[in-house]
Amino acid sequence: MSGRPATPAWNRSTDPFAELIGEEAIARRVAEIGAQITADYGALTDGAQVVVLGVLKGSVIFLADLVRHIGLPVYLDFIGISSYGDATQSSGVVQITQDLTRPIAGKHVIIVEDIVDTGHTVHYLIENMRTRSPASVKLCSLLHKPERAERQVPIDYLGFTIPNKFVVGYGLDVAQQYRNLPFIGYVTNA
Ligand code: IMP
Repeated sequence: MSGRPATPAWNRSTDPFAELIGEEAIARRVAEIGAQITADYGALTDGAQVVVLGVLKGSVIFLADLVRHIGLPVYLDFIGISSYGDATQSSGVVQITQDLTRPIAGKHVIIVEDIVDTGHTVHYLIENMRTRSPASVKLCSLLHKPERAERQVPIDYLGFTIPNKFVVGYGLDVAQQYRNLPFIGYVTNA
């Protein structure tokens, strides 16, 4: 056997989602963001560590691809967040379910999120990280749904702006399903 293994048979007409952003477009954009982060943080001269902070669980696939395009020493940490509400509506009440493993005081923190929807989660996270005296906090999000914004949060590094559709794949789920789709799809039967 040679070359890349065949992509699993997703995106059939019977699947409850349809492709919105394909694998190649994602890969291209992730590489561009990684290059931008490399340029921005490579230009810093303060010697402070750079922490890539993944928000569990939706960011893990994006983060895994992204950090391989960052040509600088970084370390990874993760934070678990639960936001109350039903499957598709955030209530705006956010709680940390798993905290960082190391202090971030004096470090440059890049929060990596899967999607900014209402904006409550990242607003809470940015405020929370700022109380821990980092050198800086920036936000990197794969997706943004501006039509749903209830909080304005600056996204320093953004993959794609998307319409007001519920999306799955490349880390994003509906009821914990479909995180392993290699593309981003929108749910068609919801
Ligand atoms: P926010 O607090 O409303 O911005 O929501 C942020 C979180 O809600 C994200 O980190 C996702 O976990 C989840 N979420 C929002 N929209 C979607 C979607 O379209 N698909 C999957 N998860 C979503």
